Amino acid sequence: MSSIATKSEERSGLLRQPQSRPSTAYAITVAFSCAISGFLFGYDIGIIDSVLKMPSFLLFFGTGSLNAETGQITETATQADTDGNIVFSFLIGCVFGSMASSVLQDRFSRRRSILLGALIFIVGGILQAISTNVVYLCIARSISGISIGILSSVTPVYLAEVAPAEERGRLVSIQQLMITIGILAASLVNATLYSVYRNDNQWRVALGIQALPAFFLVIAVYFLPFSPRWLMMQGRDIDALAVLSRLRGAPPDDKAVVEELQLMRADVIAEGVGPGDKGSSWKEVLFGPQSAQVHMSIILQFFQQTTGINFILYFAADLFARIGINRDLAATGLVIGNAALLIVGTLPAIWAVEKLGRRWLLITGALTMAAAHIAVTSSLASESSVGAYFAIAFVFVFTFGFSATWGPIVWVVQSETMPLRVRAKGGALATTSNWVMNAIIGKACPLIVDRIEEYIYLMFAVLCLLGGLYTYICVPETKGVALEDVAELFHSKNKAYFTMNGLSSGVGGRSIREGGGSSSSREGGMTGSEMTSRKDRVDAASKSKTYATEAIEVVSPLQTHRLVET
Ligand code: BGC
Repeated sequence: MSSIATKSEERSGLLRQPQSRPSTAYAITVAFSCAISGFLFGYDIGIIDSVLKMPSFLLFFGTGSLNAETGQITETATQADTDGNIVFSFLIGCVFGSMASSVLQDRFSRRRSILLGALIFIVGGILQAISTNVVYLCIARSISGISIGILSSVTPVYLAEVAPAEERGRLVSIQQLMITIGILAASLVNATLYSVYRNDNQWRVALGIQALPAFFLVIAVYFLPFSPRWLMMQGRDIDALAVLSRLRGAPPDDKAVVEELQLMRADVIAEGVGPGDKGSSWKEVLFGPQSAQVHMSIILQFFQQTTGINFILYFAADLFARIGINRDLAATGLVIGNAALLIVGTLPAIWAVEKLGRRWLLITGALTMAAAHIAVTSSLASESSVGAYFAIAFVFVFTFGFSATWGPIVWVVQSETMPLRVRAKGGALATTSNWVMNAIIGKACPLIVDRIEEYIYLMFAVLCLLGGLYTYICVPETKGVALEDVAELFHSKNKAYFTMNGLSSGVGGRSIREGGGSSSSREGGMTGSEMTSRKDRVDAASKSKTYATEAIEVVSPLQTHRLVET
C-alpha cells in the first residue's frame, strides 16, 4: 500500500483490488435481454438500403419507373434525393433521441428509458409499414430514429452499471454482438422477402417486422432490474443492495457485494448526485473538471465512424460494381460476407476485451484497418480481375478488424469512463457524435467517391491511423477498474501513454485503489471549490458503511455482524 495512503483509507479497506463477483447466469440474461435494443439498431441500419432498392418500393414511392417494353425498373431523377431524405430522417431522429436520453436516463431511470425507446420503436415500425407517401415515411423513420437514439445511448450505460468491474467490457460488448446479429438478420429477411413477395408486402413487411423484436424488448424490460447505481442516486439504497446481491448471485451481506455497494454510495456522495442534489449543467459537462472524459468519448465515436465501416456497409457494393466487378458478386458477396464477418469478429472481442484490454485492441485495430484500406486501394488501382478479388478479401479483413476492435470497444470505453455526474449528458453527447458522423459519412461519401473513386480507402486509412494515435496518447486502460475509480485515470499523473494495464506510471496490473496517485485530488465529482479529494471520498465511504449496515439489516437480518467486522 502506498505510504501516502492515510490511516483512514487503510481502515476503510477501500484501497484494495475490486473484488466484485463474476457475472451470474442472471446478469448475463439481463445483459442479453437489454441488448435486444442492439438488434433493433442493427436491423434498422441493415434493412433500409435493401428496402430502397426493392422493385415494389421503387414503384410505390416513385423512385423508379417501369419500362413497359423491357420490363426493367429504372431509377428516376429524384431517386437519390428521396433516398437521401429517407436515410437522413432516421439519422436526425437518432441525434434527437440520443440528446433526449441525457435527461430521460437520470430522471426516469435507465430501465424506463429503454422501455420508452422500445415502445417508440414499435410505433415507428408500424408507421413505416403503413406509410402512404415519402413524407409520411420520413416522419415514421424519424420516430424510429428517436427510439434508436435513446436506446443506443442508454443501453451501454445500463450494461456497464449492472456489470461487475472485471466483466464490464464483455457485457457491454454484447450490445455490439446484437447490433451485428441485427444487420445479418436484415440481409436474410431481405433475401427471403424477395423470393416470397412480388408486391408492396415486400417493403411493408421488411419495415414492419422490426416491431416484433421491439415487442420482445418491452417484455424483457419488465423483468430487468433498475440499475443499482441509478437506485443509489435516488437514495434507494436498500433496493440497490437487493439488485446488486441478485446480480452477483451472493447474499446481501457478502463482503464483495457490500464493498461494491459502499463504493457506489461513496461515489454518489462525492459526485453530488444523490436525492435533492442538482445535477450537472451542460457547461460543466463540456468544460468542467470531468470534461476530459466526455471529450474523449466524443472523439472516439468520431474516429469509430471515420474508420469507414458505414461506407463499407452502405456503399462498397456500389463502388465495386462501378469499377467493373460483377454487380451480383459485389452486392450479394460483399453484403452477406460483411454481415457474417461482423458477427464472427465480435466474438473474439468479447474474450479479448478483458484479457488484452481496451487500449491494445483499439491500437492494433486501427493499424489493421489502416493496412486493410491501403491494400484495398492498391488492389483496386491495379484494375485487374485478380486485384478485384484481393480487394474484396481485404474489405473482409477490414470488417473483421473493425468488429473485433473499434466496433464494440468504443461503446465499452464510452460506457465506463464517464463519471456518474456527467454520465447521462456526456454519454448522450458521445452517442450523438456517432450518429452525426454516421449522417455525414452517408451524405459525403458518394460525393467523395465521385471525385477520387477507390482512393477514398486511403482517406479512411489515414483517419484510422489518426484514431490509433489519439488512442495511444489519450485513452487510458480501464480494464478491471471499478466504475467509481475510472476518473482517477484521467488525472495528469496517470497519463494514458504510460499505461497498458489500467494503472498509473507503469505499475502494471494493480488497481489504482492500491494507492497509485492517491494524493491527487479527484478532479471528478463536484464543481469549483466543492472539488472532492480522494480522502473526502474515502471518508464518505466510511460513513456509508453505517448506511450499508442499515440497508443490510432490512434486506437480510442475518449475519450483519460480519459486515461490522470488516
Ligand atoms: C457502429 C455503427 C456500425 C455498426 C456495425 C456500431 O458500433 O456505431 O455505426 O454500423 O457498429 O456493426
